[in-house]
Formats: sequence, C-alpha cells, structure tokens
Amino acid sequence: MKLELEKVVSEIEQFVIANPVELEAFRIRFLGSKGLLKELYGLLKEVPNEEKREAGQQVNNLRTKAEAKHAHFKEQLESDVQTDDYIDLSRPSEPLSIGARHPLSLVRSEIIEIFNRIGYIISEGPEIEDDWHNFSALNFPPEHPARDMQDTFFIEKGEEEMALRTHTSSVQVRVMENATPPIRTISPGRVYRNEAISARAHCFFHQVEGLYIDKDVSFADLKQTLLYFAKEMFGEKAKIRMRPSYFPFTEPSAEVDVSCSICGGEGCNVCKHTGWLEILGCGMVDPNVLEACGIDSKIYSGFAFGMGIERITQLKYRVNDLRLYSENDIRFLKQFTGGI
Ligand code: DAH
Repeated sequence: MKLELEKVVSEIEQFVIANPVELEAFRIRFLGSKGLLKELYGLLKEVPNEEKREAGQQVNNLRTKAEAKHAHFKEQLESDVQTDDYIDLSRPSEPLSIGARHPLSLVRSEIIEIFNRIGYIISEGPEIEDDWHNFSALNFPPEHPARDMQDTFFIEKGEEEMALRTHTSSVQVRVMENATPPIRTISPGRVYRNEAISARAHCFFHQVEGLYIDKDVSFADLKQTLLYFAKEMFGEKAKIRMRPSYFPFTEPSAEVDVSCSICGGEGCNVCKHTGWLEILGCGMVDPNVLEACGIDSKIYSGFAFGMGIERITQLKYRVNDLRLYSENDIRFLKQFTGGI
C-alpha cells in the first residue's frame, strides 16, 4: 500500500497539464469514478486495522493534492481563454502607413533646387524680427500702411517692440548687412500677417525671397532669371509677363504673371479667362535699401524677388483652399508624392 501511495504522489506531481484535453485526462486518471484514488480507497479494506487510520489519512491527503492541482490548472486555462493572450507569431503584421512629404515642403525643395542650379545659396533669418529689418531698412516710410496693426502681429520682447516678420524680405537686409557682393541668395521661410483665416488668406504662410547683388546687374538679368524659373517650375512652354507695380524696397518694381498651365493661355476658370496667373513680386533693389545695408549703390546694383510657396503649390497641384495646408488632414496630405 505504501509503495502504491508514493507512486501515485509522484505521478500526480509529474502529470503535465497544458490544455483542456490534458486537464480532463488528469481528472479521469486520478479523480474519476474509475480513477486511481477510488482504487486506493478500495485497497484500504485490506490494510490491517491498526494501520487503517494512518493509511486513510494519507489517501485523503492525496485526494486533496490531486483536487488542488486540478482546480489550479482549470482556473488557469479558463483565464487564458478569457484574456486571449495567445499570440500567433506566424500572422502577417498590420501594414504600417508611411508618411508623405508635405506639399509645401515638396515645392519649397523644388524652388531651392531650381535656384541652386544657377548659383543661389540659401540664407535664413529669424521669424521674430525688429522694425529695422522688417520695415525701416527696406525703405518703408513711417506712415506706410503695411506697418498698420491690421497687417502685422506685434509682440513685446523686453523693452523693444518686435514683430512677427510679415515677409522674408527681412532676410535680404540681414544678408546685405553681413556680406560683400557678389551676393546670390534665396531665403525660404514662414511669414505672418494679421488676417482673418479664409480659403484665400491665412495668418501665416511661406515665402521665398531672392536677391542678386553685383556690379552691372540689370533688369534684363531679372527678367531672364524669372523666365528660367517659370520654365523649370511650370514646364518648357511657360511664358512670363511683367506688370509695373510698387514696392518700397525696389525701383522699378513689377509683378510677374506666368501663362496659365491649365488652359495653356487660352483662358479658363483658374486664370479667370485671362490666360495669366500672378506668381511673384520683384524689382531692382532701391539704392536707399543698398545704402541702409552698407552697400555702395554707386558701385553695385541688384534685383530682388519674393514669391509665396502656397501660391506656387496651388498652381502646381490645384489646391484651392489655403486652410488645407495646415489642417493636417491625412486624406489631403497623402495625395502628394515626391522623393523623400
Ligand atoms: N515682400 C513682398 C511681399 O511680401 C514680396 C516682394 C516683392 C519681395 C517684391 C521682393 C520684391 O523682394 O522685390 O509682398
């Protein structure tokens, strides 16, 4: 009997239960109506009377042990099913959605590449600007409407009143103050205007400023540079036209239109049936600006131009609402492709 008991103890301990089928096999083997414990209780009859008490106790202990093991694994297997933490390692993973470059970033890079090819380098300046770099050095008279509170976000920084730059022309001042000609540079960056947000206006947008200063730079150089840009950006067939305009920092000044690439100049809704689309402002740098920046206007001349990246992007990708650029709607952003 003793030997029998020891064998059953080690069998109970070593019995592996890893799934419901094995759990049931365990129950049948030890606790079932024809199980080993039942058998042991049967054997007790043959045990001499003086040993009966102790032997009975031992069989009872065995039953408790078997029941405890059964209960433990039953509970464990049931909770495994509930938490469903079974992981199928062979399952294919969820596809990862890959980001795309923002359309403004794509067009910004394209503009930079086009001007890089003809020797322009990049320069950048701060978005929080002082009055000198944003206005005064650029020949804005004190009463000029662009200084009006309606257009500019003013902020206080210590004693000095500062502004969020309203255009990237401020960077041309910084470049001219710190370099000696020849200067050939473009300055991409974010600018701010105090405007109500709508499809056609936003309180911030992006510009690229261009500046070329050297001896004997002429209006013809400006025109040819911009024609080159238009053809690179909008295709070989692109034409440009220049309309006289006014900016405080250039004289003469012009606004530049590109032939409508949608209708080929025939006239359509996008170009309002004129065949032309406005893309930038430009002109010969006013001698006052050169002097304010420490460049001798009797020796040097130059041209400057400024364009909105949103505007070029709108024409390239036909985006007709400025708000889309900053709403971060994945459905909008996913549509643009380009080398990352
Ligand atoms: N700064 C002008 C603007 O924000 C754009 C501009 C026009 C820049 C003419 C220039 C320029 O450099 O020559 O509207």
